[in-house]
Amino acid sequence: MGDGHEFETDPDELPTAEVAPPQRFLDQANVTETGIRERFRAQWPDAWDEAGERLAWTSKYDSVYDEATRSWFPGGQLNAAANCLDRHLADRKHQRALVWDGQRGETRTYTYLELFREVNEFAAALREIGVGQGDVVTLHMPAIPELPIAMLACARIGAPHAVVYTGFSADALARRMDRSDSSYLVVSDGYYRRGDAVSLTNKAETVRATLSADVTTVVVDRFGESHEYATDVGKYNYRTLLDRNEGERVEPVDRASTDELFVIYTSGTTGTPKRVTHTTGGYLAHTAWTSHAVLDLEPGDTYFCTADLGWITGHSYVVYGPLALGATVLLREGEADQPPRTNVWELIEHHAVDIFYTSPTAIRAFMKWGPEYPEQYDLSSLRLLGTVGEPINPQSWQWLSEHVGNETCPIVDTWWQTETGGHLITTLPGVDRMKPGAVGPPLPGIDVTVVDEDGQSVDANTGGYLVVDTPWPGMPRELSEGVRWAAPDDARPDSEWAYRTGDGAFVDEDGYVTILGRVDDVLNVSGRRFGTRELESTAVTVDGVTEAAVVSGAYGDRGHGLYVYVSLEDGTQESERIRAEVTAAIEQTIGTFARPDAVIVSPELPKTSSGKIVRRLLTDIANGESLGDTSALRNPEVLGEIRSAVQQD
Ligand code: WT7
Repeated sequence: MGDGHEFETDPDELPTAEVAPPQRFLDQANVTETGIRERFRAQWPDAWDEAGERLAWTSKYDSVYDEATRSWFPGGQLNAAANCLDRHLADRKHQRALVWDGQRGETRTYTYLELFREVNEFAAALREIGVGQGDVVTLHMPAIPELPIAMLACARIGAPHAVVYTGFSADALARRMDRSDSSYLVVSDGYYRRGDAVSLTNKAETVRATLSADVTTVVVDRFGESHEYATDVGKYNYRTLLDRNEGERVEPVDRASTDELFVIYTSGTTGTPKRVTHTTGGYLAHTAWTSHAVLDLEPGDTYFCTADLGWITGHSYVVYGPLALGATVLLREGEADQPPRTNVWELIEHHAVDIFYTSPTAIRAFMKWGPEYPEQYDLSSLRLLGTVGEPINPQSWQWLSEHVGNETCPIVDTWWQTETGGHLITTLPGVDRMKPGAVGPPLPGIDVTVVDEDGQSVDANTGGYLVVDTPWPGMPRELSEGVRWAAPDDARPDSEWAYRTGDGAFVDEDGYVTILGRVDDVLNVSGRRFGTRELESTAVTVDGVTEAAVVSGAYGDRGHGLYVYVSLEDGTQESERIRAEVTAAIEQTIGTFARPDAVIVSPELPKTSSGKIVRRLLTDIANGESLGDTSALRNPEVLGEIRSAVQQD
């Protein structure tokens, strides 16, 4: 597998002593069965029936899992929107389903009944403009209520949605639409980013001009201006469409369990984005069950997750899981580590939030700002805290537990990926002791192994490649269809099903997994995922650049930054121009969120004798670490120059 990665561990980041879940929590936890893992093992895959049972099916599945077709809940029929809305109307139609906190201090609230109505009206509108079952509808909006409404409206009519994060450029949006043959785009006129208004209308225009197929566009008003397109073919206004469909009801379309619910793009190891397709039954069962068992969510709870809806966390644990369980979801526009520094705590106090799910990046920012911000607020409504996206070190864990959780909330450190759809490795808060720094044991029904380059499992506490050995309900269609998302030089035979995660990890003697970070050509920079090939192939399009290598290194407030190292053609002297153009190329091809934190220009990049760029050294330089023995390099002399370029940056 790969180049023979070195699995390094930083002693400061290693798991510390065990912490028992607080009794107050245990007394009410959803799942407290100590033998649950053994039961799932003994009754696999049938034990997963309890995930299927959390949903309302219009036709019950024939079996829990079918080995031959690798499908979950085969024969079952259901509709995801009906699971998130219709079935709650009997008991909770006047309960708040969605509470929105906008960047300009706005608040909007939807009860389950109100959300149901607007989803129905927009579903009718989508049909009116021609969207049929199976048509991919691209959604490009910030976290405003219209986004989950559009997602659920698509689900209602059986049209897979493809949410593209607003930080992507017009080029990136068009490429993604093209990849899915999507000719419908629901886009807001713009969004607020750190207080600035950013237009999306221009982007929509560029997309329409770039794609060969006709694109039908619906514009949602975010800026408070009206957009009337009476004369423009294929352009509609969201509000006008809703008005025209006022009071309309759309029967939820029956979908097979394995039918696609949505498409999501993420960064992969190739030069192009990775397209991941999640199913209706397996995915929804997985997210609903983990929301219940891991996030301890109960119907009627107020739940707050700081993830943007453009990423998988927003799909699984803002929209589908929590709404399937009948929670009140707090939706906040903007990033958690964005001022005002009091906002997140104010929201938790004001709405008496029960469960708070966030990221280590946000926690690092909260720590930097200081405990005086959360301490001004009454956070005693909180029952459980969760983190996701990257490893949380013991210090951050402790800070969160003390200053946010008042040491009475368990913390679930949840490991999963865009590909997995939902949690795979985490403690069960009502069952397991926690080890700050380690994510925890795999969930019931999940088997993982850490293997070496030859695919052989390694000893306890030894670093290696993290592999998932058992299929799980939230697995994407691609894995059922036999698409091998694996390194080509993987030693395991094709017949042996296993999902390679791309992460390095070790497992301790208690079976707790500690994640060591990505070991493939994907970078995790402050919880954001980037493909090195995608960035590098963009950087080399700049005139004068011969080679590029992208790494993640220590940087600024968020803790990590994106470093782009480029070497120049002989004689190219204009490093300032090159740096500006590399940044511009990345912003144009990928988007502003991928803007490099540093572009380092040097005559050559460090290479092995066989000519491979040694990214590890570039990471060490970015982190300001010593480099050790570099004598085996073909060109060790370049390192000094690169280091001084980084220091000057
Ligand atoms: C990568 C997946 C899952 C939603 C957010 C990210 C890293 C994720 C953890 C964790 C250590 C983690 C891994 C993984 N990661 N959760 N709890 N501890 N690392 O989804 O963008 O698909 O990224 O995020 O490296 O492979 P994603």
